[in-house]
Amino acid sequence: MTPEDRTLELSPEAFSRLIDAAARRVIAHVASLPAQPSADTEGGAALARSLREPLPESGRPAEELLDLLFERVIPKSFNTAGPGYLAYIPGGGLPHAAVADFIADAVNRYVGVFAAAPGLAQIETNVVRWFADLAGYPAEARGILTTGGSLATFSALVAARRDRLPENFLAGTLYVSDQTHHATRKAALLAGFPADNVRAIESDGLFRIRPDALAAAVAADRAAGLRPFFVVGNAGTTNTGAVDDLVALADLCARERLWFHVDAAYGGFFLLTREGRRRLSGIERSDSIVLDPHKGLFLPYGTGALLVRDGGALERAHGLTADYLPSMQEDPDLVDFNLLSPELSRDFRGLRVWLPLKMHGIGPFRANLEEKLELARHAARELARIPDVEIVAEPQLSIVAFRLAPPGLDGPALDRVNRALLERVNGRRRVYLTGTLLNGRFAIRLCVLSFRTHRERVDAALEDIRSAADEVRAGGTP
Ligand SMILES: Cc1ncc(COP(=O)(O)O)c(C=O)c1O
Repeated sequence: MTPEDRTLELSPEAFSRLIDAAARRVIAHVASLPAQPSADTEGGAALARSLREPLPESGRPAEELLDLLFERVIPKSFNTAGPGYLAYIPGGGLPHAAVADFIADAVNRYVGVFAAAPGLAQIETNVVRWFADLAGYPAEARGILTTGGSLATFSALVAARRDRLPENFLAGTLYVSDQTHHATRKAALLAGFPADNVRAIESDGLFRIRPDALAAAVAADRAAGLRPFFVVGNAGTTNTGAVDDLVALADLCARERLWFHVDAAYGGFFLLTREGRRRLSGIERSDSIVLDPHKGLFLPYGTGALLVRDGGALERAHGLTADYLPSMQEDPDLVDFNLLSPELSRDFRGLRVWLPLKMHGIGPFRANLEEKLELARHAARELARIPDVEIVAEPQLSIVAFRLAPPGLDGPALDRVNRALLERVNGRRRVYLTGTLLNGRFAIRLCVLSFRTHRERVDAALEDIRSAADEVRAGGTP
């Protein structure tokens, strides 16, 4: 093999050509997002199978590979970045963040160790501090950016476990509501707790945890010799956007000396709005908070965040060194992320948050979130005017849940009608909605969160729901 055969370095010209070729396609793709179907996965499994291949021995031209991606592979998916994505919890994908990722990957600096890239580590520290300020956390709070809410929840739970339980922690019990995202259950399993140690406390008519039921469960567990230690408050559930009474939970946790964790993965950035501040009041008294910038800050997937009020607790759970990696600085004012996180080597995810926030300032983010709150209220008002539509959950943030409830129908027959309605709405391909079970019955959810979703797309959703409901009521089958 000659040195030429071995080289992996791109010449400046070849690098520039590759960037141009990718940029041309990305820019055209993003411009076409509103016109793309809201989902297109027909033939997806066949496509996936057709892509299987052995490790290639020789290379192919970049243009051919980019064509494969942009013409065949990317189109077969949910259009999660488009304005019609009103399913689950939408993200968005600010393009500035993609440019930040490009820079971060190309310079490939090491931000997990402060001494290796002090300025870049500080940029990520600034981002975490901005989030802590938003939550009302004190100066000694610390945090990390994670790949998402699930891993942030895991680190929160491990920090709480180390802080509140002995080495043998198997008697420790955790409390969530029957609406809490399963990320907490998964974190508990990963952290070594028996599945039965997670108590699902019932919620009230507005899908908020019942503090009286929580207090009773804690008392019963203590009486049984268990060690209650961790309570999750929801700041926006995935099902309906319900926000628990965080003040009541903070009081209860203070009284019972329990770690108070808030799952604000979906709802946290509504703190930027006046209404969100009011609804999330009490969050500042929590011990830890999970936020997902890839939801409420419209960033690409792979951007979560954890904040811990007592930064020392986060470090005591994660801060290990080794002979080959001794601590390289001791200034408590400077942050070594590897001592606060399960990760050592990792991408520089702070830049993808920092660049759009620095380019725009926070104003447009706040305005977008205010708009989403209003769009959900608008959707709820208009849905209620459709004959036989019942609002199952009024928006507390930017989710509304509803169902078609023609007189005389209930039980599984009602569920079938609503599954058919959902299928018809999604089949029109302008919007993509998803369903869930609320009190055991199927309901359709509409969640507005993307920075690309505005009034005209929500009105298109309403038009499609109206016409699909007419068809379903007339007895059509999907
Ligand atoms: C309320 C809530 N918590 C936690 C999560 C898990 O976050 P992630 O998907 O970023 O791991 C989600 C995800 O949708 C969520 O909606």
